[in-house]
This record gives sequence, C-alpha cells and structure tokens, in this order.
Amino acid sequence: MNHLIAPSILAADFANLQRDIEMMNQSQADWMHVDVMDGIFVPNISFGFPVMKAVKQYATKPLDVHLMIVDPDRYLKAFAEAGAYSITVHYEACPHLHRTVQAIKEMGCKAAVAINPHTGVSLLKDIVADLDMVLVMSVNPGFGGQKFIEHTYTKVTEAKALATRYNPRLLIEVDGGVDATNISKLAAAGASVFVAGNSVFSATDPSAAIEQLKNPK
Ligand code: DX5
Ligand code: ZN
Repeated sequence: MNHLIAPSILAADFANLQRDIEMMNQSQADWMHVDVMDGIFVPNISFGFPVMKAVKQYATKPLDVHLMIVDPDRYLKAFAEAGAYSITVHYEACPHLHRTVQAIKEMGCKAAVAINPHTGVSLLKDIVADLDMVLVMSVNPGFGGQKFIEHTYTKVTEAKALATRYNPRLLIEVDGGVDATNISKLAAAGASVFVAGNSVFSATDPSAAIEQLKNPK
C-alpha cells in the first residue's frame, strides 16, 4: 500500500501540543491534519490562526488544513500565509466552488474539496479535473471520535471511478472513524490519504498506532 497518514491535531492534547507535534514529526505520519471549525458550518468550534501558527512553528510535515467554515474564501489567504500545504473546503459551503479552488491554487496550496456523508460524489464531476484531492467525509463533520459510516466504501469507489476518468492523479482522502479495522478496505476501494484522530491519540502508543495504519496487515 502506498498511502498517506494524516493524524488529526484535533485529537491531540492541546495542553501538550508541542509534545504531540514532536511525536508526529518522529513518526511515520506523512501529513498533519488541521481541523478548523467555526460553530456555524458545523456545530462545534475548534481553533484558528494562533493555534495553526503554533503548530506550524514545530511541525516538520505538511499541514493538511480542513476548513469546516462558511464563506472560506474570506480566510484562504490567511491560511496559506499561516503555512497550509493543502486547503480543503466543503462543497456544501462554496456556491462558487470553481473560483474558490482556483484561488487556493493561485496561493500555491494544493486544492481539495470535501463532501459530507449526504453529498453525492457525482456532484464533483465538473470540478474533479481541477482538484488535487477529494475528501470523502466518513462521519458528519464537527467532532472527533465518531462512528465510521459504512456507506463510505461505496463513495470512495465512486470517487475513484471519477478520478480514473477525469483526473488519474487525484488523491482521495477519508476523514472520520478511520482505524486499523477499515483502512485496508478503504485503500482497496481507492482511498490514498487517511485522517486519523482518535485511533492515533487515544492509543497507548500513538506513534505505534500511526505505524500500524501506515503498514496495515
Ligand atoms: C471531524 C474532523 C476529523 C476528526 C477525525 O469533523 O474533520 O478530522 O478529527 O477524528 P476521528 O479520526 O477521531 O474520527
Ligand atoms: Zn478533518
């Protein structure tokens, strides 16, 4: 398997954030996933620029920024300047998605679009050629530690078919409830990037949990 692991900082110990970032730096993690929530698009507030900048100061791996916010266009530049490698916006939050995606790319970041569990993959057909990545949400966004939605396998298969047809280099990321029990099947369906919050940070040895996700049986 040639896939990427992006542990989610949302599940880290914020009182020991530097320690947890150093753990990820030393681990087999490929990216660090940064969940930004505004309390409007999703029913939770996580953190914003001050925390993102603190993470960037210590992180040696690319920051994969997942914006669960309304009107993300207002903040793209600030996230790019805060050190985002990739910026993911939600399909459901962007009425002018093509413009938003071009703006992300013009800022030098990888552009990704996330879809909520109820949003059909087919809606991405006319944007997929412009994207670096599609994020298939496997829980309703807003909280870590939720149960993985089984229908995600079908959606990943559909996203892979879109990629094969319109953009073979497209990465397919899965976010929510990813652990050692579902990662191989998701990869077989076509997913290539895996966000993992609870399955990493609630493990007794988070670094070993990352290693296990990177090298599943
Ligand atoms: C959920 C976030 C996820 C979350 C994943 O809204 O987008 O990135 O941190 O956490 P787990 O892996 O615990 O479901
Ligand atoms: Zn996320």
